[in-house]
Amino acid sequence: MAESEFRHDVCVVGGCGHVGLPLAITFASHGLRVSVSDINARAVETVRSGRMPFLEAGAEEALRAVIGRTLEVGTEPGLVSEARHVVVVIGTPVDEHLNPTFHTMRRFFQGLIPHLRDGQTVILRSTVFPGTTEKIRALLDRSGLRVRVAFCPERVAEGKAMEELVVLPQIVSGCDERAVEAASELFGTIAKSLIVLSPLEAELTKIFANVWRYIQFATANQFFMIAADHGLDFYKLHDALTHDYPRMAGLPRGGFAAGPCLFKDTMQLSAAYDNNFALGHAAMLVNEGLPNFLVKHAKGRFDLATMTVGLLGMAFKAESDDPRESLSYKLRKLLEAEAETVLCTDEYIRDPNFLPVEEVLARSDLLFIGAPHRRYRELSLPSDLPVVDVWNLYGRGTFPG
Ligand SMILES: NC(=O)c1ccc[n+]([C@@H]2O[C@H](COP(=O)([O-])OP(=O)(O)OC[C@H]3O[C@@H](n4cnc5c(N)ncnc54)[C@H](O)[C@@H]3O)[C@@H](O)[C@H]2O)c1
Repeated sequence: MAESEFRHDVCVVGGCGHVGLPLAITFASHGLRVSVSDINARAVETVRSGRMPFLEAGAEEALRAVIGRTLEVGTEPGLVSEARHVVVVIGTPVDEHLNPTFHTMRRFFQGLIPHLRDGQTVILRSTVFPGTTEKIRALLDRSGLRVRVAFCPERVAEGKAMEELVVLPQIVSGCDERAVEAASELFGTIAKSLIVLSPLEAELTKIFANVWRYIQFATANQFFMIAADHGLDFYKLHDALTHDYPRMAGLPRGGFAAGPCLFKDTMQLSAAYDNNFALGHAAMLVNEGLPNFLVKHAKGRFDLATMTVGLLGMAFKAESDDPRESLSYKLRKLLEAEAETVLCTDEYIRDPNFLPVEEVLARSDLLFIGAPHRRYRELSLPSDLPVVDVWNLYGRGTFPG
């Protein structure tokens, strides 16, 4: 980075979160002077002590190497004033109907204005509703500040951030040439290559990527349901479809399409397109309907009302401790309405209501697999314990025969 009057090269605001922290650590590992500003005091303390507040492969080791050296962390918004670049990765503001709430963003940036200084570059990294970057630029311009505004979306998958941040091309956009230059200089220190777009193009590109994945998962899940309604094992069909047939290589396997991004961003795109997004809504109905489908099928085979049902894996995906928007919780709710007792366990989420996996196995009459954590694959299940296995973790198809 060029010499500057700022104490830090970059401040990551929201930098104790799933996107912000791996990014801050990666910048710091590449020799930049980095600060993190986050309102979550508990997460800040955890990070300061060299521990990750959530699971992210390879991150804790890298954190320990930089904390107190090139990485400083705090709750003070004033840290923003001391950094040449300010990267903002607070959560995407949406309301309870998953509609974007620009006023939350506006309020956040109004609060940031007293801490910003002329000459800084503000880089949005949260996934945002199309047009947000230009609106923030207008807001900051009106305040009289001379700051550049850029949007550089995050495209890594949770759990793979440390690996992907340095190999995926980074999309860079800015409201003027100097913003593009500044953001390119910053991300050029870690990314393998840069792709320059306009802010609106970059905003839509990011959302399209998530929506595409969501629709792909929905396609697989719809096929899964059709096969099951014919009494067939979707995974047998999946193997046949994809074996030595490259045109079908992109067909995902079945399973819960959940988590904090895909569903929300599909609904954001719908809102940005006047709710005229039938494909996105269809994908939502399929993906969100999968737990209901599983319970309906199980009800057809078992007298759930007399059974203790065990649910293995509550995180939104395998090897994650992130419960946000996990469909396992929806499954639990549906099962609680039908079964006598529901017992839950997870390898990574700490919850006093969860039981050790051994106890769940010992007490359950029927199992459901919520998140396919690696360890569950290695369990030796009692041979008479039926399993509803949407992921085909045990290679026996989804429904017990
Ligand atoms: N999680 C993913 O895999 C992923 C991938 C790509 C993009 N995104 C996008 O990145 C954004 C952040 O997602 P996340 O998963 O990191 O969320 P997160 O909730 O894990 O992190 C957000 C962080 O921002 C902090 N924060 C909130 N308000 C703040 C404020 N006013 N000042 C300072 N800090 C504040 C929170 O304390 C939290 O630590 C979202 O827009 C999301 O859509 C997420």
